[in-house]
Amino acid sequence: MRHCIYPGTFDPITYGHLDVLGRAAKLFDHVTIAIARNPGKRPAFSPEERVALVKANVAKYPHVSVVIFDGLLVEFAMKEKADAIIRGLRALSDFEFEFNMALMNRHLEPRIETLFVMPNEQFSYTSSSLVKQVARFGGDVSNFVPPDVATALKKAFPQ
Ligand code: COA
Repeated sequence: MRHCIYPGTFDPITYGHLDVLGRAAKLFDHVTIAIARNPGKRPAFSPEERVALVKANVAKYPHVSVVIFDGLLVEFAMKEKADAIIRGLRALSDFEFEFNMALMNRHLEPRIETLFVMPNEQFSYTSSSLVKQVARFGGDVSNFVPPDVATALKKAFPQ
């Protein structure tokens, strides 16, 4: 059984993340979405809120699970007996960060491979921070996030 980890902060999940997940779900027998607590990023949503929003939007995939993780990603991946980590590359600007992270992860644990997929180009400028910024000022985020995430953003950033 081929198993991959799709890690991220998912604060909140966007259609861009769901695009990457759809590709991972086609390639692997099981995908674990691993939500980093990442307090350093000062997330707008708690880890439990992020899990609930992700779960609600991946329910159609029977072979996808959602968990919170702490500590090193590769240690988590080994514990889960995963074969690979999957990440999305939206644009050239993602490359350097992702390249360094993949090499560091390979240094830490050579048995875990990192794979990259390219989300649809319509999501090349989508990021959770930009979506939050638009929502904070009452802008329309419906092209970037599912309806329940848009509702959660409205609650998080009341006008
Ligand atoms: N669509 C939309 N947005 C996307 C995206 C896509 N396909 N792919 C990435 N993004 C955005 C995210 O929304 C996020 O935006 P933001 O910074 O504005 O919030 C940004 O790209 C990157 O976020 P994400 O993919 O969630 O990664 P991250 O940098 O927040 O987290 C971890 C990366 C969790 C994988 C990494 O920090 C980690 O592994 N941490 C554990 C500790 C560890 O092992 N460290 C050693 C690593 S070398």
